Amino acid sequence: MEEQALYGARMMQPGLTAADSEENSLRPQHLEDYIGQEKVKQNLKVYLEAARRRGEAMDHVLLYGPPGLGKTTLAGIIANEMGVQIRITSGPAIEKPGDLAALLTNLQEGDVLFIDEIHRLSRQVEEVLYPALEDYALDIIIGKGPSAQSIRINLPHFTLVGATTRAGQLTGPLRDRFGVLLKLELYSPDELAQIIRRSAGILDQPITPEGAFELAKRSRGTPRVANRFLKRVRDFATVLGDGVIDQDVCLMALRRMDVDELGLDELDRSLLRAIIEMYGGGPVGLETLAAALGEEAVTLEDLCEPYLMQMGFLTRTPRGRCVTHLAYEHLGLRPPETAAPEDSGQQSMF
Ligand code: ADE
Repeated sequence: MEEQALYGARMMQPGLTAADSEENSLRPQHLEDYIGQEKVKQNLKVYLEAARRRGEAMDHVLLYGPPGLGKTTLAGIIANEMGVQIRITSGPAIEKPGDLAALLTNLQEGDVLFIDEIHRLSRQVEEVLYPALEDYALDIIIGKGPSAQSIRINLPHFTLVGATTRAGQLTGPLRDRFGVLLKLELYSPDELAQIIRRSAGILDQPITPEGAFELAKRSRGTPRVANRFLKRVRDFATVLGDGVIDQDVCLMALRRMDVDELGLDELDRSLLRAIIEMYGGGPVGLETLAAALGEEAVTLEDLCEPYLMQMGFLTRTPRGRCVTHLAYEHLGLRPPETAAPEDSGQQSMF
């Protein structure tokens, strides 16, 4: 089993890479510094305040939405705002019920246990989690066969923060045990520009408002992408420019990184092109498309599709994925008369 670092002051733990700790340094520690997700923030503020006033642990929280939107960051904020410690792990890292038992018995009263990719917990581990969530208790079986005995160990009152990109894959019993469900949405370019300016400030990196907005527009609604672009464009500004990130450096750097003016990368464009060139614009099933591209279906589903759908380039139908006329136009192709209709109900952000 693998357990990642503690948050905040205890962030620098063995096993953390330099990139991890740099990403951590950009994470806001308090709710008031967290940009965007206004609805989530406003409700969370109430739940945190209520738990604090009652002197109780916060109820269990499920955070769901596409990757890179700040689920780990929010879990850290919940712990900080409650003045408790956080332990970070993930579904696949908890291999056996004993791994979870070890984590749970090491928690202090009120602590936050963050389980990323919680939809990937095994059934066996999930079974151990249920009484822990409901009754703050661990049921341990001692012995085998007819003489086996179950003993109950009390656990401290803790808060489980689970994160998943796919709430639909959680089992019903697990989902029902979360008292707070928070859905994270893709960020607007204005919000991303604020995040980029804040991160640039922390990195002591000069950036113009136009530069920040250029990066924001191309960050596919995702702070993790925005912060990654900021660091790479900073490299171009340092080596090939005068050290300042302005719009010109952004345009040059993003062109060299094959990121187009709407933030689509090579994989996004290959996905759209494959549907057009190999399947006449769709519909095509996700698995078929993944095989054609040599990618995992989950990569396409989690990383590419949310943004392509938000941009109005892709629709999901019961018969498979279809591209829209907008996608043809974006790729500089002529949409056929019979191309898929644009009735996705999704609006372009721009
Ligand atoms: N860094 C990553 N996500 C952020 C957010 N939502 N607000 C501020 N900084 C961030």
